[in-house]
Amino acid sequence: MMQRPRRLRMTPWVRELVAETNLSKRQLVQPYFLARGENTNEPIKGFSGVNRLGSDTLARKIENDLECGLRTFLLFGGATDEEKDREGRAAYREDSLIAQNLVALRKRFGSAVSLMSDVCLCPYTEHGHCGVLREEVENDLSLEPLSKMALVHAQAGADFVAPSDMMDGRIGAIRRALDGAGLTTTGIMAYTAKYSSAYYGPFREALSSSPKGMSRASYQMDFRNTRDALRELRLDIDEGADIVMVKPALAYLDIIAAFRAQSDVPVAAYSVSGEYQMVKALAQSGMADEKSLALENLTAISRAGAQVIITYFASIAAAEGWLHS
Ligand code: PBG
Ligand code: ZN
Repeated sequence: MMQRPRRLRMTPWVRELVAETNLSKRQLVQPYFLARGENTNEPIKGFSGVNRLGSDTLARKIENDLECGLRTFLLFGGATDEEKDREGRAAYREDSLIAQNLVALRKRFGSAVSLMSDVCLCPYTEHGHCGVLREEVENDLSLEPLSKMALVHAQAGADFVAPSDMMDGRIGAIRRALDGAGLTTTGIMAYTAKYSSAYYGPFREALSSSPKGMSRASYQMDFRNTRDALRELRLDIDEGADIVMVKPALAYLDIIAAFRAQSDVPVAAYSVSGEYQMVKALAQSGMADEKSLALENLTAISRAGAQVIITYFASIAAAEGWLHS
């Protein structure tokens, strides 16, 4: 035999030497769910080890993350039933949970942290949809509240706003709103190809943001489609997205690879709550090792072409030294 591929697998050293994918902490983004109060730390049903955090609890977590080499965080707010209304007005209050925490974190950590904020109406509307609801979710009526929300976050100190609503034209609308207020350096990480997915269950529990009545299928993407994702990619880049995202990640590695090939801006992938919980459940059943499963999944997402990975494992991966760099 002239060809023996096993020669490149014989020792740990040669395996390290020829490894093609090098997952690093620098690529990871940890999402955090905010709660009222200072020391709040409340578990979320069906979301193992992920809690809603009060401002001090969050600051302590982030302090620890920074020490472990994690820099970037994606913040999700939320509202009580009393604060929710038909239009989602609580989304763009200057004293929203996200805005308050952005200000506090920036004050405490300065430029040592990179802060991203979720921009969407679903946690703030009574009906749980990501836009303004009339008979249908109204695309054009949703652009103004979303832009206002992005502006409030940018003014509160977000480095990147991350619109997750999937309304047409929202990247352009938000870019114009930010530029109009002189916030030209605030970036937009667009949820470009966000599929209508069954993997969002634990997240919706976390934010009590399940849509009532109809599903989100009229605005989130159909998982049978690739070309629709490529169309969204072209539009979001044209409208000014700085980072484009595919979500979920694991069942969409082909979409990540297509984005990698066609995008000239960085590609992010969001490994969502259901993907995380799937790993937790398999590990809890004793059938697999949690760290091994999580690393295999995250490496696959990176190998497919995602440069940025949003994962609920980021913090533990950094703290437990799962990654060399
Ligand atoms: C909605 C939103 C969702 C997620 C983030 N923002 C999904 C949805 O409810 O449609 C999912 C994240 C996760 O599951 O981890 N704007
Ligand atoms: Zn939403």
